[in-house]
Amino acid sequence: MCGIVGMVGENLKVEDLVVSLQKLEYRGYDSAGIAFLGDEFEVFKKKGPIDILKNGLKEKGSKGFLVGIAHTRWATHGEPNDVNAHPHTDCRNEIAVVHNGIVENFREIKEYLISKGHKFSSETDTEVIVHLIEEEFEGDLLQAVMKAVRKLRGAYAIAVMHRKVKDLIVAARRGSPLVLGVGNGVGLLASDVTPLLRYTRNVVFLEDGDVAVVKKDGYEIYDMDGNKCERKVYYIDWDEKAAEKGGHKHFMYKEILEDPQALVNALVGRVKGDRVVLEELEPVEDLLKGIKRIKVVSCGTSYYAALVFKYFVENFTDIDVDVDVSSEFRYKRPHVRENDVLVAISQSGETADTLESVRLAKRHGAKIVSVVNVVGSTLDRESNVSIYMNAGPEIGVAATKTYVAELGVLYLLGLKIIELNGVWNEETKTVLDRLVRMPELLENVLRKDPQIRELSEKYKDYNHFMYIGRNYGYPTALEGALKLKEISYIHAAAYQAGELKHGPIALLDPNFPVFAVIPDDSLFFKTKNNVIEARSRNAKVIALGTEGNKSLYEIADDVIFVPPTHESLYPLMMAPVIQLFAYHIADMKGLDPDKPRNLAKSVTVE
Ligand code: M6R
Repeated sequence: MCGIVGMVGENLKVEDLVVSLQKLEYRGYDSAGIAFLGDEFEVFKKKGPIDILKNGLKEKGSKGFLVGIAHTRWATHGEPNDVNAHPHTDCRNEIAVVHNGIVENFREIKEYLISKGHKFSSETDTEVIVHLIEEEFEGDLLQAVMKAVRKLRGAYAIAVMHRKVKDLIVAARRGSPLVLGVGNGVGLLASDVTPLLRYTRNVVFLEDGDVAVVKKDGYEIYDMDGNKCERKVYYIDWDEKAAEKGGHKHFMYKEILEDPQALVNALVGRVKGDRVVLEELEPVEDLLKGIKRIKVVSCGTSYYAALVFKYFVENFTDIDVDVDVSSEFRYKRPHVRENDVLVAISQSGETADTLESVRLAKRHGAKIVSVVNVVGSTLDRESNVSIYMNAGPEIGVAATKTYVAELGVLYLLGLKIIELNGVWNEETKTVLDRLVRMPELLENVLRKDPQIRELSEKYKDYNHFMYIGRNYGYPTALEGALKLKEISYIHAAAYQAGELKHGPIALLDPNFPVFAVIPDDSLFFKTKNNVIEARSRNAKVIALGTEGNKSLYEIADDVIFVPPTHESLYPLMMAPVIQLFAYHIADMKGLDPDKPRNLAKSVTVE
């Protein structure tokens, strides 16, 4: 995944283009580059994070421009270095292209272009695009791009400019997101909405196959056959400040502190009295009544949220909830029938595997209910029904507040499904009541930050961790282990506590601590026995349990308490603890938790 921005206007400043690019740094940060056309046509690229590019540009002195494109890269083809950084230029150094995605047939195209005399300088797949456009160029950049992209296989979002064309950028997408900013005297495009918020709240999401001409006073969109088309303008009500650090050292920390607010935003307006009101669900309500099974697809953290949903709905109803990781589902025999309901969970709404799973299920007649944070994202547009998380922009690569928002929405969705299927009793009312009170309790959990920090200090030098939990505690264990490994690079495995003795317990020794998710729930004594087993192998134990349960001190070296709640809601209550523990360890190790190595915020390629 990479980040693209483009601007067209008058007296634009290179600094502004770079500031916009920095809003996309979470999408890739191994090299960055810029091409702009003012008095001269200039291309400047640097290995490393955008700051290096920025400093290099500063040394060259401030510049104004009319047309500019910029890129932050997450390498797939060719190592991160100055040459492989985007933009790439053609043989005459007249056309510049930035690209997000993977050109699958780049080898064939490259051979063809070499036979035509084109000279390549990088190892990237992207470079074929610019030479292909050069090959097709007969004075009209739009036509040349259209002809070129028809020859590409794979995924792309591109922005293209020409040294002799001073008033436009041509953009195109298939499989990778691209958004245009609408109406304020500057032509704008970007990989997502965050860089656009400084200029406008009105945006257009390009669809697969679209080619757009972006000018300072407007835009035109064409389909692959060259027909002009209209696309819906979305209003984005995100606050630009929400995409800034607000004085915190890292976005991740700031976003963890926003957990309670993210939950408020996910719940607000969706609970009336002792009932859940999800008007968005209306088109599929009839299908959900009496439903026998629900399919769910998602990846990473969203998958762990899906597991919580499964435990929740299955504990209260006879409905089977089949949860699959999207990258598996998309290649399976899908077992989807006409009018099945498939829930797709994705904060970005752009995860390639989840989108393909959704398309597969739709081909088999399923109706798609998405739980998504980004309004207008591909998943949002391709779903029958979308329930927005309303978490606001999340910049840190690790999902934190969006996990909390996902859980919030999934509990509401679960409760609605439970109610539609004839189960509405004192217990479900209690769950809803506790859910609504949860944001306040999450503030209490966040106040434990100094204690969690101390614990992180104590445990930061271990090379392995085992997270365990049962029932609702298991997804928390999985998510805790994922957070730790993805930002601190410490090996962490997660198991159902009952699985320990089937193999993993062999790993335990004094150098392999166990992080036990052990709330006061109906399986507390079962989990307690597993913790005792682990301790008897001399493993250090951190217990994450319920306030007031002093017995945890007898079985654990360290204890973190969260307030009591309904047992189904502990995944929410415990989320800030597992997030902060991982965050502090990464920070103490001198790592940047906002930009973990080898990762990118949304995985738009397979
Ligand atoms: O945007 P999505 O929710 O579809 O993303 C899914 C995963 O890629 C994402 O949760 C990933 O696992 C994060 N690195 C978790 O912190």
